[in-house]
Amino acid sequence: MPVEISPSILTADFANLERELGRIASADWVHLDVMDGHFVPNLTIGLPVIRRIAQISPLPTDVHLMIDNPDGFAPQYAAAGAASVTFHLEAARAPVRLARAIRAEGAKAAVAINPATPVAAVEDLLEEVDMVLIMSVEPGFGGQSFIERSLARLEQAKRLIGARPVKLQIDGGADRGTTPRIAAAGADVIVAGSAVFGAADPAAEIRALREAAR
Ligand code: DX5
Ligand code: ZN
Repeated sequence: MPVEISPSILTADFANLERELGRIASADWVHLDVMDGHFVPNLTIGLPVIRRIAQISPLPTDVHLMIDNPDGFAPQYAAAGAASVTFHLEAARAPVRLARAIRAEGAKAAVAINPATPVAAVEDLLEEVDMVLIMSVEPGFGGQSFIERSLARLEQAKRLIGARPVKLQIDGGADRGTTPRIAAAGADVIVAGSAVFGAADPAAEIRALREAAR
């Protein structure tokens, strides 16, 4: 399977989201970063905006919840039309129940871990989720540089996943330079924010990332 590209709109023009979505229509997903100003020191968009994006997006929506109370809110994002909902293991109180609640709303469920959370912590959730997200920066902001240790963490997660139908996603600092190593380490889905929306031609950048991953 070729690597999938999920551009993050965090560095897009928030006053022109529909137009920005059109510029990345050749990607596989659109990655939507929801931040609550508590779990991470930044605040972005929430449920009403995600609901509307899910209605008009040419791409399936990949919602990344960086919030303190995913148990309460994540199923609402699934009900709002998100194709995939990612919660942070560090924030979830009952991750098995939460993953099941997301799936019950018809979305794919994914679990994310921060750079210092042991990869082994996701092992007992692998039957409950469709994707594991390895953060390759501390979450909160776009444009940070890739933490190299993430490559070994991807490889470890890949081994744990084994033959299960669980995708492996990486988020943070992915660009043409880091993508060959990210793909070689086993990532199935690469999130790229500033690399795509900082480029003059986002569609060309998506092609370049696909090429770099080959
Ligand atoms: C970081 C977000 C990422 C971010 C990626 O907390 O979860 O999705 O937008 O941006 P880049 O690709 O610029 O690191
Ligand atoms: Zn993200």
